[in-house]
Amino acid sequence: MKVLGIETSCDETAVAVVQDGRTVLSNLVSSQTDLHARFGGVVPEVAARAHVETLNPMMQEALEQAGCRFADIDAVAVTVGPGLVGALLVGIAGAKAVALASRAEFVGVNHLEGHIYANFLEHGPPEPPYVCLVVSGGHTMLVHMPAEHRYEVLGQTVDDAAGEAFDKIARFMGLGFPGGPALDKLARTGNPEAIRFPRAMAESGDYDFSLSGLKTAVLRHVKAEQAAGRAVDPADLAASFQEAIVDVQVSKTIAAAEEKGVPTVLLGGGVVANTRLRERMETAGERADVRVLFPPLELCTDNAAMIACAGASRLALGERTPLDVGADPGLELAS
Ligand code: KG4
Ligand code: ZN
Repeated sequence: MKVLGIETSCDETAVAVVQDGRTVLSNLVSSQTDLHARFGGVVPEVAARAHVETLNPMMQEALEQAGCRFADIDAVAVTVGPGLVGALLVGIAGAKAVALASRAEFVGVNHLEGHIYANFLEHGPPEPPYVCLVVSGGHTMLVHMPAEHRYEVLGQTVDDAAGEAFDKIARFMGLGFPGGPALDKLARTGNPEAIRFPRAMAESGDYDFSLSGLKTAVLRHVKAEQAAGRAVDPADLAASFQEAIVDVQVSKTIAAAEEKGVPTVLLGGGVVANTRLRERMETAGERADVRVLFPPLELCTDNAAMIACAGASRLALGERTPLDVGADPGLELAS
């Protein structure tokens, strides 16, 4: 079965063809970073217009790379939320048109479910239950999955998302937008113990996160050092900030896995591309005797292969989405 995946929830236009829910035949991502960089963040209307221009040629290209035509597509899976409403609508309209014209099945997918299912491309799902850490530009949450497609949110950020925190500090440090990858790179040459930033809510006894205090602490530290006439080493600053985020994420994720007694932890979302998070999660998993899975780098950040994978799994369970479905910018992980 060939599924065409379409993802336009934010500033990436992504189209993929995935066979049998596992084999990626093509996976194209067109980033709009350059269009938004001068604004220092994603401008929703600019994003939607760029999707309109890019989607059709990308579908053609994805089919070509996969060696097939529209008529060979058995189903179309598209992100229906959460995300920017105008951006989502472009992908949904395109997906509906292809499904109708190609007489293909149609299924709507939750973007966060896509990030989780990115782990199942190639190898398929291991035996549930799982605990999932979803960390992206818009979300930071811990989720218990007693079974596939069943979600119990254990906790989430009370303020900024992890990716948002990375982007804000990177911007403050002049590393550009989005700054997560640049900050990650800089941190590799720094000392993570150089500055002891607060580990917000590490001891709160629940699975919630708070990141805005850390951001304030970083700004305050830099101002104080500058006022005292001392230079701040950017690599040490990046490494110490990153360590404070990663520390809390690792300890809460492992605690949740132990409390729920799950054998497997799944990591998903753009921030899972972070070198230090991957390293620390792997080590902590070995120590706690839980299997930690994360997608290959290119499948951590937004892509359409993950949407096709989650969609294929829903289709296999007999699920179909009516063609009158709309975009849901605040869509939650339903159980
Ligand atoms: O999942 P994603 O591609 O888009 C959303 O659904 O939001 O995540 C994007 C976020 C951005 O905030 C970006 O800075 C962050 O993921 N990110 C990283 C890294 N790569 C991407 N953050 C830290 N380290 C990275 N290597
Ligand atoms: Zn995402």
